[in-house]
Amino acid sequence: MKLAVVGGGSTYTPELIDGFARLRDDLPITEIALIDPHAERLELVAGVSRRMLARSGHPAKVVATSSVEEGVAGAQAVLFQLRVGGQAARNVDETLPLQCGCVGQETTGAGGLAKALRTVPVVLDLAERVREHAPDAWIVDFTNPVGIVTRALLDAGHRAIGLCNVAIGFQRTFASHLGVEPGRVSLGHVGLNHLTWERAVYLDGEDVLPRLLAEHGEEIADSIGLPVELFARLGVVPSYYLRYFYAHDIVVAEQRTKPSRADEVAAMEAQLLEMYADPAVDTKPELLGKRGGAFYSEAAVALIASLLGDRGDVQVVNTRNAGTLPFLPDEAVIEVPATITAAGAAPLPIDPLDPLYSGLIANVSAYESLALDAAIHGGADRVRNALLAHPLIGQEAIAGELTDLLLEANAAHLPWV
Ligand code: G6P
Ligand code: MN
Repeated sequence: MKLAVVGGGSTYTPELIDGFARLRDDLPITEIALIDPHAERLELVAGVSRRMLARSGHPAKVVATSSVEEGVAGAQAVLFQLRVGGQAARNVDETLPLQCGCVGQETTGAGGLAKALRTVPVVLDLAERVREHAPDAWIVDFTNPVGIVTRALLDAGHRAIGLCNVAIGFQRTFASHLGVEPGRVSLGHVGLNHLTWERAVYLDGEDVLPRLLAEHGEEIADSIGLPVELFARLGVVPSYYLRYFYAHDIVVAEQRTKPSRADEVAAMEAQLLEMYADPAVDTKPELLGKRGGAFYSEAAVALIASLLGDRGDVQVVNTRNAGTLPFLPDEAVIEVPATITAAGAAPLPIDPLDPLYSGLIANVSAYESLALDAAIHGGADRVRNALLAHPLIGQEAIAGELTDLLLEANAAHLPWV
């Protein structure tokens, strides 16, 4: 089985390779094509990937190429993990909104919109090339903002599913709190990408969330950076992305005093690339564990194995709403547990949502559709309207100012500016 990775020169790739090597029985890969326009970086990442596979005795061959056509030809699955503009553009997403008192984040708020504007056209172009050269391949999208990018891919008729590691991260954390194998734990996960809540945690089918909160509430709340009272009151676990909403002003104050995550990651990437260049390095460096992508590889292997093997198991993915959340349009993309077969993802039915959650989900989903419209058609007014609709922005004057600032700072990546 051939698998292609668009953005294969990412310093994250060894995380994926590590998973492919460990989980080879689930996914018998014979060829991995790493596709990236940055030849030098790609060579380093391909080099360490080959050494990792060789060390583990994995037979897959690693091909490094800048040609999308060559890389995807014959692939059964294509992973998208690219970052248009690299950490420099991310740094703008994370810092520029602070000028207007708004959170600086690469997927949430104004930064997320800027990322969508840069990314959607590039991803759609890549997907067309996948359609032409690997028409039966599944596209698994890690590229952020995953909800908007997945919606763009589905609207254009691609065989695509969006993936994030937040759910699998919770599953692993909760399993370790409970002292059980992760496979026994499943989640009542609901929302949009990077806007989700765990309303239940099932151990062998029984909801143990109340017990988890009673016994490990402090620890869980600390790791998310929200007060434990909130968890106790709501009886749910919000993902750490909800902190940008529930503690917006606190986060803005913190961000004003700290280096951006983009700066931290850029420093780590330089170190990682040095390690990858060392012919003695043939395992995943520990430093990679400081990145946010823990368990991505497990989630990706599980998803691809079920898509290609028609397994019919349940995994948390980003896919069409199709009536699952009745207050959203059918075409909206949501992040929920879904049955994964060769036909794709079919969301499980969801218990009705309290207005506390449905209101925010509906608001952000509406923003996402305006963001996608702006990303596809361009135009300052569309950008401004999307910002106006975003619950973390919402004010006309701020939306106007942020539109000017974001478009100017991203002009090199937006042909219509
Ligand atoms: C988590 C999110 C990803 C995001 C990553 C950032 O894994 O689910 O969507 O890309 O964090 O991690 P980083 O190390 O780049 O800050
Ligand atoms: Mn994510």
